[in-house]
Amino acid sequence: MLIVHTIADLKARLNDERVQGHSVGLVPTMGALHAGHASLVNRSVKENDVTVVSIFLNPTQFNDKKDLERYPRTLEADCRLLEQCGAQMVFAPSVEEVYPEPDTRVFSYPPTDSVMEGAFRPGHFNGVCQIVSKLFDYVEPDRAYFGEKDYQQICVIQRMVEDFKWNIEIVPCPVIREESGLARSSRNTLLSDDERLLAAHIYRILSESKNLDQSVSETHDYVVEQIDAIEGLKVQYFSIVDGKTLADVGSWDDAESVVGCITVYCGAVPIRLIDHIRYK
Ligand code: PAF
Repeated sequence: MLIVHTIADLKARLNDERVQGHSVGLVPTMGALHAGHASLVNRSVKENDVTVVSIFLNPTQFNDKKDLERYPRTLEADCRLLEQCGAQMVFAPSVEEVYPEPDTRVFSYPPTDSVMEGAFRPGHFNGVCQIVSKLFDYVEPDRAYFGEKDYQQICVIQRMVEDFKWNIEIVPCPVIREESGLARSSRNTLLSDDERLLAAHIYRILSESKNLDQSVSETHDYVVEQIDAIEGLKVQYFSIVDGKTLADVGSWDDAESVVGCITVYCGAVPIRLIDHIRYK
């Protein structure tokens, strides 16, 4: 497995692959890799001749600097995992390599990027679009793989790809969960064992809410009340939305697909956890 740090090196290596007619899959990550990332890489390895995994802790998508400082950094372990998965290339650039100048580009895809995470983390999706558009430009992948764990992020990236009419297939990959149901996330390593047990209630309650046979607003209230009743958990938002546009729905018939997206604060620090459930 090749590890490259510069854009010029990455482009030169990929050029050699393309001359041979090889297809390229990209898995963008911020490192601190876990089984969820491994599932994206495994899928890309199956579907492409060459898989590039980028490891870059992108500062422009963190509106909370403490969150950026706390983010786990585990490059050596990440590379070991990627080697086992069969990735051919890792792109691990420095911040200066990616942003020699501040990126002033503005991306705007409302309501997809303005609701939920967009409302509570101003500038977050602009930063995601900045880095993902740069990675697409460097790698020119045939396919790019994203975890459905960050459901809203996939919707925003899909809008960006449609906007620029890029010929890149966005491949959403299912959430990988711990045995308890907790969605795998790099942030889980920041939870104590007790907090992990608490966090598992989030998906349990979301799953229960699928079988309630109640209205959208009753389902919403059920989820928020049940989670907030557990000491150590606090819902920041729970929104039941159109699965494509992410606009709020008032009834189950308002959209072809309906998804409930949630963010919960867990534990003493507290750690911010996101998850979602598909209702239809
Ligand atoms: O999902 C992530 O890890 C990041 O938002 C991404 C897509 C790698 C961009 O930094």
